[in-house]
Amino acid sequence: MKRLQAIRKAVFPVAGLGTRFLPATKSIPKEMLPIVDKPLIQYAVDEAVEAGIDTLIFVTNRKKRAILDYFAADGDLQTHLQAQGQHALFTRIADIIPADIKVEYVIQEQALGLGHAVWCARELVGDEPFAVLLADDLIRSPAEGCLQQMVEAWHATGAGSIGVEEIPPAMTGRYGIVSLRSDSDGRDYIRGIVEKPAPADAPSNLGVVGRYILPAEIFSLLASVQAGVGGEIQLTDAIAALLGNQPLLAHAFAGVRYDCGSRQGFIQATVDYALEHEELRDGLLQHFAKLTHNHDRAPGD
Ligand code: UTP
Repeated sequence: MKRLQAIRKAVFPVAGLGTRFLPATKSIPKEMLPIVDKPLIQYAVDEAVEAGIDTLIFVTNRKKRAILDYFAADGDLQTHLQAQGQHALFTRIADIIPADIKVEYVIQEQALGLGHAVWCARELVGDEPFAVLLADDLIRSPAEGCLQQMVEAWHATGAGSIGVEEIPPAMTGRYGIVSLRSDSDGRDYIRGIVEKPAPADAPSNLGVVGRYILPAEIFSLLASVQAGVGGEIQLTDAIAALLGNQPLLAHAFAGVRYDCGSRQGFIQATVDYALEHEELRDGLLQHFAKLTHNHDRAPGD
């Protein structure tokens, strides 16, 4: 049997315009927005490193200096924290990227779509299967992270996978939607995939979330797909073409996903992560109790 390659490289497309978060995203990349005190991109990087990834590839644009700055070493800050005896913070800063992890960047000159962003990473990825993580889909898992679960499925089956979850049927127009087929191994494989169908045309209510393990063959398919929904080069369309000759698993991950590209999802993630934080939880609960009390009181009480 052919030995499976390890999943070593992860692509982080961070070159989108983040229009749903304007005006903040006029100068702050969406992926740098913090949930409690950590930027979204750091949660995705931590998930990738936990899953055994050793090379992080950021697809960025010329305006997103903040992401490059965030991942660059800052000797002055570290010297300052050390001198102040702030050891815990020093370690957090030093661990932003563990020492044995390689970081690479490629520029997407124009935001032509997610598919185009992934295609921009083709030379850095080369001829091996790889992961893609969209940092604005934040996934809080009870034990192993979502990507780790997908890497395990890769080792068990040799098939790539896409993260999926059930979404409200009325919201199919915001997601890639998959239909499934079951295989003799008892796992769910993707039969078809379509980008942002109207509810009446959707093959299911299983929406794609921003985690993928893909074979390198996807790059040649991305090179030939035409602009699709929204005039963008869609990763979904290349995946649909891939399904003709490669099986892909639908990975219904264990965990909760927050769509942090939307204000609602971002705020819910902030509240949930803050409630898990021992320094923040009690103050926040007191605040909620006060809000509920004020809300329940009739005006003039
Ligand atoms: P989204 O569609 O969620 O991000 O793309 P967006 O376009 O930045 O956000 P809105 O819809 O305008 O608010 C999913 C991911 O793909 C990246 C984004 O940065 C995000 O992480 N992306 C999207 C690119 O890197 N390049 C693109 O051309 C488009």
